[in-house]
Parts: sequence; C-alpha cells; structure tokens
Amino acid sequence: MKRTIFLAAVLLCNAAAAQTVISTKNTSLVIDAQEGQIPQILYYGTRLSSGDAAALRSAGFGASAAYPVHNDASTSLEALSVRMPDGNLSTDQRVKSVSTESWAGGKLVRVDCADANYPLAVSIFYKSYEAEDVISTWTEIRNGEKKKSVVLTRFDSGCLPIRQGDVWVTSFGGSWAGEVTVNCQPLKTGVRSVFNKDGVRNTQTSHAEVMISLDGKPQELSGRVIGAALCYSGNYELRFETGDTRYSSIHRFFAGIDPSNSNYTLARGETFTTPELAYSFSAEGMSGVSRNFHKWGRKYKLAHGGQVNDILLNSWEGVYFDINEAGMHQMMRDIADMGGELFVMDDGWFGDKYPRKNDETSLGDWVVDRNKLPNGVEDLVAEAAKDGIKFGIWIEPEMTNSRSELFEKHPDWVINAPGRNLVEGRGGTQLVLDLSNPAVQDFVFGVFDGIMTQWPGISYIKWDANMDIPSQGSQYLKNQEHLYIEYHRGLARVLDRIRSKYPDVAVQACASGGGRVNWGILPWFDEFWTSDNTDALQRVFIQWNTSYFFPAEAMAAHIGASPNHTTGREIPLKFRIDVAMSARLGLELQPSAMSAEEKALCKSAIADYKKVREIVQLGDLYRIVSPYDGKGLCTKIYTTGSKDRAVFFWYRTEYFHGEPVAASLFAGLDPERGYRVTELNRVGAALPFEGKVFSGRFLMEQGLDIPSGNNAPGPHRDFGSHVLYLTAE
Ligand code: GLA
Repeated sequence: MKRTIFLAAVLLCNAAAAQTVISTKNTSLVIDAQEGQIPQILYYGTRLSSGDAAALRSAGFGASAAYPVHNDASTSLEALSVRMPDGNLSTDQRVKSVSTESWAGGKLVRVDCADANYPLAVSIFYKSYEAEDVISTWTEIRNGEKKKSVVLTRFDSGCLPIRQGDVWVTSFGGSWAGEVTVNCQPLKTGVRSVFNKDGVRNTQTSHAEVMISLDGKPQELSGRVIGAALCYSGNYELRFETGDTRYSSIHRFFAGIDPSNSNYTLARGETFTTPELAYSFSAEGMSGVSRNFHKWGRKYKLAHGGQVNDILLNSWEGVYFDINEAGMHQMMRDIADMGGELFVMDDGWFGDKYPRKNDETSLGDWVVDRNKLPNGVEDLVAEAAKDGIKFGIWIEPEMTNSRSELFEKHPDWVINAPGRNLVEGRGGTQLVLDLSNPAVQDFVFGVFDGIMTQWPGISYIKWDANMDIPSQGSQYLKNQEHLYIEYHRGLARVLDRIRSKYPDVAVQACASGGGRVNWGILPWFDEFWTSDNTDALQRVFIQWNTSYFFPAEAMAAHIGASPNHTTGREIPLKFRIDVAMSARLGLELQPSAMSAEEKALCKSAIADYKKVREIVQLGDLYRIVSPYDGKGLCTKIYTTGSKDRAVFFWYRTEYFHGEPVAASLFAGLDPERGYRVTELNRVGAALPFEGKVFSGRFLMEQGLDIPSGNNAPGPHRDFGSHVLYLTAE
C-alpha cells in the first residue's frame, strides 16, 4: 500500500517534469517519457544538476527514441521489429506510465508503453547501480493477444543515442589462443556491427562489450568514455548506426540477442525479457570505465565476487591426457611444496567402454577410468587433503562424442539439423547436447551433482565447452528458430539448480580458453580461463584487453612452460611469473620438469603474491603504458580503494638497443602520501630506489627510471620485468 502511494507521487512528479533523471555517483541518464509520446533518451554522461538537466534541450541536446521500433516514422535501424498475427509489420509504442522505485543499490525506472491498435506492450527498464556508476537497461515485450502469436524479428535489449563528434569505438575480436584483440576506429557514416553466432561460446571470436570514446582516440587515464556490455551467454549483435547527417546529429548504439535464424514466436499471453545491457560512463578514460565494471562485476555479478581466488596448478599443459595416479600425486605434492592452494585435474580422467585417451571419445561418459586411476578420484581428494591443498576436476558436461556410450544410448540428444549428416567438431567426433530438452538439462545437472555427491571433498570445477553449433536443429523443439535461445535458457536452468545446491564450490568458466567471458554467464562462475595461450608475451596483450571489462579476480593466468606449447617462444621464468601475478595466479606445466632453482623462484613468487593478491584481485586498475604503443613496454598498477597500498607491473615486451625508455609514471596514488617502494619476486641486484619513499605526487608526475637494457639487472633485455609493491607510510 505504502509503495503504491510512493509510486503515484513519482508518477505525478514525472508528468510535471516530463523528464526522468537517473543518476549515479558521477553520471546521469536523462529520459523523456511523456504519456502518449515515444519514449526518448536526452542525455547520458557526467552527473547533471537538476537545473542543467532541465535546460538540456535549450543547450541543443536533441532527444532520440529510447527503443526505436520498426515503422516509427523513421527509416533508420530499429531495436524492435515484429510480425503481428494479421501480418502487419509495424508497431507503435507510446508511453503509458513511468514509475520509479528504489532497490538496495540504486533506482529502478520502468517505462510502460503500449500499441493503441494491437495488444503488444513494451516495458523499458533502467536500473542504476549508484556506487559503481553503472546504469543498465532491458525490456519486457508482452503479447496480450487472446489467441494468436506475435513473431519478434528483432528484439534488442536497448538503444543509446551518442552525440556526434570525434567518437571512436573500441571493439574486441580474436580467435582460439588469440582472444580479445582490439579494433579501435572512429565512427563513420554507415553501420558497424559486432556479432557472434557461435551458439555456445560467445566470446572467442568477438566480445559483447564496447568502449565508446567521446573525445577522439581513446586514452586510458583521461577523456569521456562510455562502456557498454551486453550480459548474455548466447548469440548477439551490437550495432552502431550513423545515418543521414542532414536529419540526425547522433550515432545510435543497439545491442541485443542476434535474431538471425532466431525469430522468436511470442505465444499469446507470453512475455519475453531481453538480456541486461549495462552502461558505464567515466570522464577518467577507459581505465575509469574498467574500474566501474570491475567493481560492479565483483559486487553484483561474479559468484563469490570480492573473495580472492586460490593459487592453483592445472594438469593440462603438464600431462595433457596422460593422467595417472602416481603422476597426479606428484603434481599435487609439487604445488603444495611451492605454496599453492589447489590442484585441478584436467581432461583425460574418465571413460569406461571408451577411455578418454585423446579428444575423439568419451564426453558424456563421466565415470572414472580405472586403468588410469585404480583407486578412483576419492584417492586423489584424500591425497590432496594430506598435502594440505584443495582438489578440483575438469568436466565438459554440455558435450558428447559420437564415440561415447552416451551417444549410443541417446542419439536424439545432440544438436544437428534434421535429415543432415552429423556435423562433428573437436577430434572429428564432438557434438553439442541439446539443452533445450529437459531430459538433457537433468543429465547435465546430474553430471555436476554426481561428481559432488560421489566426491564431496571437491572444491573446484573447471566447466569447459569446446564446440559451437554448426548445424542448427533440435529433435526436441517444434520450432527450430527457438533453439539458440532455448539452449541458453536450458543452460541457465541447469546452472541455477547447481548454484542453489552447491553455492560454495568454485567453478571456472572455460570454453576452448576464453570463449565464455561475458557478464551474462559469469554470475554462475567464480572465474574464467582467459586463453589456452599461456605464452607470457601474448598474455600481456590478452590480459590487457580482457581487463577492459573483467577484473583480475576472475582472470586465470597460469605460468606455462618454455618453450611455450602454443607459440614455441622461449621466455624466462621471471617474466612468465610476473605476467601471471597480475591476474589470478596459477601454474600450468609439469613441475617435475622444473629445476630446483625454478621451483624456488615459483615458491617465493607465490609467497609474494599472497601478500598482494588482495590488491591485484580486488583493487582498482589503472592501465598506464599500453603494449600497443610501440614502445616495447607495458605498465599498469592496482591500488587499494583507500590508496594505502599498490602493486605496479612493468614489462619490457621488446628491447631495441640505444632507444631511450622514459621514466615510468604511476597512477591512482594519493599525491599527498609517501609510498615506500619494494620490489617483489626480485631476481638479481636491487633497483636503485629499493626501500626508498617517494610522494604519490612525485611518482605520478616524475616517475621512476627503471633500468632497461645495458644497465638492467639480470641477463635478459627482451622480457625484462619488475613488480613493485608500494606501501603508504
Ligand atoms: C580446452 C581448454 C583447455 C583444456 C582442454 C582439455 O581446450 O581450454 O584448458 O581444458 O580443453 O581438453
């Protein structure tokens, strides 16, 4: 009752003001939603006073449709297009009411719209996360028809107008073992699109996040930037449209589920909810937007966000499929001796009729291979406990192989176009299980549940997914167009069941490396496997780019072998360690192949990492010198929220003799405080400033001259690296 009165008051207030201002600590979004009119967005940027917000139109700010629909008297792109039961392709959504309510982290504004001629209604939501400077949006589309369905042919989550100017967009693409490369270009007339049609792993070849820089070529530490992240685990399309500049002074940004081969038939009475699309604005450059997304992700999205993650050894690059009991015991002892906290047994431990010797068989047959592990997984869990570490295990529960007992029993459970030859993936035999089918959902839940109930000591699961959907077709669904969406609804149901039964277990999202790095899937996961590429040089770039939207807490970074298994590059252990220490540190190599000195170096690095892991995993990131700047250098710093401690990373990615290297400037420090500088994971002689105290102002304005080249300590000029720990006095 109380709430109704409150809402009514807000409604009256909105009607009078004609504008709704949604503000966070430093930003405002202004919408103009008057009854009977098309809902519009007037402004998104720095926080406005109510006076400035009221004067926006007189300052020349033009409003633009908040959720453009097909046939809204414009010929530009649309966020929503439909086919009505009578074949009409138009809808006309006008505001009926606006309401605002509070939630623990901010406000939730709801704009209810309706079509006067058809019972199709759209509600647009805006949710503010005040402390994190994030505002997200999504829609609900309701078919009020008594008897008939409406077909949705485009159903984006939202649309944002961006004033024209020197606007640059940074999007992210990539490939297996080369994830998250940057594509940064000015926005020009036409349409720029970022899409993913993988079906399962939606971030290996493109990402559903973009940085929109409003002040020219993007800078890390200055300039106005909008970050946008579509939170969805399935296919998507992000579009930028710059239309006829005679009539429009804006670019429009659209983001939503990719509708190709995926029209959605909305049954009578049904409501379709589009995925959340999160925006963050910062006037402190791209790093400012990143810090906002990191805080938001840790607080609201990641499973166990805000708790540091364990230092682990993963068996994959150490032994691949060659799992055996003695080998696992040895690896566990070795990581325990080095101070690690968790051992993860990767692929290769399962299969009875078809033992998993390579990637051609066994997915789906989640029983222990007794030839490899005669005493079962329970023995390994017990052994880990004796070593004082935790135990984790790899599964790929959404998949099967055509050579598996599961496929022999349930050939109808796999995704493939009806009447077509099977299209098989990895190993020439891999297939995706049809998660739209409730029986398959039960099976996939059962894989996880079975492991956890058989071996209750397991504290970490690596959940992998190594295939796309190359042949769209379900033997369960009647409407094949629904498969992409129903797959992800099925996956969400399974993961919800898992998380309600196993809220505490740590789960890593892996999908052929970084194929599932999206805020739509991460809420069920603690972290993600950033890339199958463990080459530390390429990791400098991959981790730099991944950090645009995702925090170090979730970014698994493992020390690999040298030469690297993917690139063949030889890189000194010190550099490999220092790169892995800038995210969630782990190891992925065979410790028995390491020398005593190498083990000792890892051991002391792990001890150092434990001192600063909270700052790295949960701190504020300032990217300083980009590895793309061509200076052969990369630097970044993590600081605590109170700026009393910081960790600075310095990587020499390439050395050119005789080229001077500028002093390294710091960022994010308190200019008025003094910081003592100590090197972590040090190899060789002390740096000249070891143990000295400098003011934050000096460090940010003058910086430290870090020796490089002839005068650098240690034998390596390429791949020199330093990790500096700063403590305020
Ligand atoms: C994928 C993962 C790897 C590893 C293998 C196992 O490629 O990305 O980390 O788990 O599968 O087959």
